Amino acid sequence: MKILDEIHVMGKCSLSGEIFIQGSKNAALPMMAASLMHRGLSVLKGCPKISDVFCMEEILRSLGAVTWWEDHDLYLDCTDADKTEIPEVYTGRMRSSVILLGAVLARNKRCRIGYPGGCIIGKRPIDLHLMALRTLGADICETVSGLDAECIRFRGGEIFFEKSSVGATQQAMLAAVLAQGETKLYNCAKEPEVFWLGRYLKSMGAVIEGEETGEIYIRGVRELGPGKYTIPPDRIVAGTYLCAAAAAKSEIVLRNVPEGELKAFLEVYQKIGGQYEANGGTLKVNGKRAVRPAELVETETYPGFPTDLQAPLMAVLTGISGKSVIRERIFDQRFGSAFQMNKMGADIVVNGDEAVIRGGRPLTGITVQAGDLRGGAALIIAALMAEGETCITQAGFISRGYEHICRDLQALGCEIWQSAGEDLRIYEKK
Ligand code: EPZ
Repeated sequence: MKILDEIHVMGKCSLSGEIFIQGSKNAALPMMAASLMHRGLSVLKGCPKISDVFCMEEILRSLGAVTWWEDHDLYLDCTDADKTEIPEVYTGRMRSSVILLGAVLARNKRCRIGYPGGCIIGKRPIDLHLMALRTLGADICETVSGLDAECIRFRGGEIFFEKSSVGATQQAMLAAVLAQGETKLYNCAKEPEVFWLGRYLKSMGAVIEGEETGEIYIRGVRELGPGKYTIPPDRIVAGTYLCAAAAAKSEIVLRNVPEGELKAFLEVYQKIGGQYEANGGTLKVNGKRAVRPAELVETETYPGFPTDLQAPLMAVLTGISGKSVIRERIFDQRFGSAFQMNKMGADIVVNGDEAVIRGGRPLTGITVQAGDLRGGAALIIAALMAEGETCITQAGFISRGYEHICRDLQALGCEIWQSAGEDLRIYEKK
């Protein structure tokens, strides 16, 4: 199978036109896991067709689910999803598959799952996931080949997360909704993707309160009904395209933008001179005056500046004269794309959790390598400003989260193309 692995960008382009923002990858994945907990048909409407979703779909099919697509609506018939093994071939490919552990245990009482893959953005342990599941009654053995877990039925309990973790919060929610009794979760992540999972589970009949407050109360029920929900728009994809407008000093229109979930990012965007006019879910974006360096941007848990937009913003700052500073406080190795941008002529000095960007130096298009999803997207943003053609290799990282970044930027007038293709499997309705 040929691998779609290179994206080419002709730089110094200006953009105009409009883009519709896709459904959220990080909302869709846990909602797919939650669908496993209904022994019947659920549907996720407006689901992004990205490789992480296809990977999660493959895992659910390997567990016995039947899945198909009708346009962007993903149908998940989990009537016979009674298997309990999730091999490392999947968990190595997509760390977020670990979220299935609680769901499979809650439904099938057993689960053997490979260890989640390493990731270039940092260690990414799962200790909080395991703590939560063990507190609710799971017996989890950490073997050489992976996790071997069983739980006849989760029982409610109290969990205090010593650190805010999106995945661990979602893991605990998935285990608690079918548990015997009540569960209280403290110091939960407050990212929108936690809130949306709570809403989806409630639409299936779960009893949950406080899903957006950091303190979540869940009363276990015997079973969950069918899920039917529309995936919310992807706040990180929207932020990435705002960065593209700033890099290309252009005016564009974004539709289906979750503006309320981007407040901290938009504040920084305005501080560097970016402008936008919001009207419902439509944003008229003007990046022409994005010329002010950022004194200090620190990534935070929600509602702070999102770590997933750190690299795209860094790319923008390489094109703005003056000194900008970014501090990455969520992951311990998330400046990988800085070294690639320096190969293009940028001046970024990384020291521990801090990157100092001396912007305004001209960038030159050359061959660079994506190392992770958002770092790869950042290289596209940098390429928009570069002189000549940039080739981004390992572009498969980018298709994990961006449904049509090449098609979208082409529609805005950018000369961007892909050089080969990995057939991203889509199971049409049988
Ligand atoms: C989710 O990852 C997102 N992924 C990430 O997006 C996002 O960057 C991250 O949340 C933070 O917002 C999905 O939703 C699929 P965490 P997750 O648990 O849940 C530490 C993207 O580009 N931690 O909130 O894995 C961890 O090391 C991806 O779309 C533990 O110490 O993130 C990190 O320092 C990248 N022990 C911090 O918590 C644990 O058991 C936050 O991680 C779990 C996490």
